[in-house]
Parts: sequence; structure tokens; C-alpha cells
Amino acid sequence: MIITIDGPAAAGKGTVSKVLSERYKLSYFDTGMIYRAVGLEMVKNGFDLSDEEKALFVAQNMTFEKMMALSCDKDFRTDIGGQAASKVSSITSVRQALLKMQRDFALFPVFADGTKANGVIYDGRDTGTVICPDADIKFFVTASTEVRAMRRFKEFEAKGIDTTYQKVLDDMISRDKRDAERQTAPMKPADDAVILDTSNMSAEAEIDAVIKIVEEKLKEKK
Ligand code: DC
Repeated sequence: MIITIDGPAAAGKGTVSKVLSERYKLSYFDTGMIYRAVGLEMVKNGFDLSDEEKALFVAQNMTFEKMMALSCDKDFRTDIGGQAASKVSSITSVRQALLKMQRDFALFPVFADGTKANGVIYDGRDTGTVICPDADIKFFVTASTEVRAMRRFKEFEAKGIDTTYQKVLDDMISRDKRDAERQTAPMKPADDAVILDTSNMSAEAEIDAVIKIVEEKLKEKK
């Protein structure tokens, strides 16, 4: 089974992905991580984030192992990693170079310890439209920019990251705009995606709603 969950940052994709992954024994692929890895590697090397040739080189040489190593960097999850990811992800050749790695993950889905999974849950911006257009179930999870910025700000605060709500909000607005307006694979719901607005939902309510939809879809498929 393949489930895709697309949508903007801090909309609640990660929360539902983790629950669905455990419940249905699906391996989880957070596709934003590869763009963060490419973006951060560019920053670390002092490369201009709009330098297509360099970004393509970094993308072509990106591996799962490198991505996991970069994910331990203190800037990986901050706005530095997020903005860098968003910038390199708007380069068409970079997206193409990272396509196979993302699609191939569904061929032999395994958990981190190597055990076999029942399928994959993809989390990203274009997983239902481009990476897995034939996915069994697709979601587009969203929420108002202010709600998402407050959630992200609280996450950063809890991690001790020095920032302000306004900075997080500004970062989110510019990232959403770039992700939604880029030429290749812009962030948008797939035609057959279920759209879920979590602005006024608790995490529990969101999880309940998603599980209900998955159960209904599975019944329909039987
Ligand atoms: O989900 P995230 O915040 O970690 O994603 C970081 C950036 O990566 C996001 O702003 C746009 C890009 N991205 C993308 O273009 N396509 C994806 N499938 C996932 C992320």
C-alpha cells in the first residue's frame, strides 16, 4: 500500500504519517529530507543556492547515508535548512536527479532495521502528483499560515532554537510562495487527494479523521 501526504510545512503531515506508519506497518519517507540535505550541503560548501550546476552535482551524488548524516546537523531542521531546501528544490534538474531515489524506495519498502514493510507512506509536496501518481490513498494536509507558523515556532522553542514568531512566519510565507509557484512539480493537491484543513483541529482529531478516511478507502478497494 502506498499513501502520500502532501502539503505545506507544519500542516500536520509528520504527525499523521507516523501514526499511519505504525498502524499499517508502512515505512515512512520524509521526502523534504533529501532537499534539506542537498540545500545544506550547498550552504556548508559556500555554494550559491541558485547555482544550478553545483546543485545538480550535489543532488546527483546524494545518497541515503549522506542524507542521514546531514540530518544530524544543527541547521538541518531550522529555517536555514528549510530555505536552502526550498531554493534548490525549485531547480528542475535537481528535482529530476532526485526522482529515482524517491520512487525506488517503494520497490522494496523496509523499516530502518531492515525488516520488510507493507508499503510506504510518503510525506512531501509532490508525492501524490509526481513521485507516486498511482498511490492508493492521497492526502493534502494544510492549515492557515499563522497556525502553522505558531506550531513551528513552539517546536523551535522546545528545541531551544533562538528565533521569533515573526521570523518563522516570514520564512513560512516565502517558502510557501516559492514551493507553490515553481515551474516543476509545484506544491498542489493531486486531483484525487483528500484535502484536510487542520487549522482548527487537535492532533488527535486530525489522526482520527485520517484513519477514518483510510479505513473507508480500504473498504472501497476490497
Ligand atoms: O517538508 P520540509 O519542510 O522538510 O521541506 C523542505 C523543502 O523541500 C520545502 O520547502 C520544499 C522542498 N520539498 C519539495 O520541493 N518537494 C518535496 N516532495 C518535499 C520537500
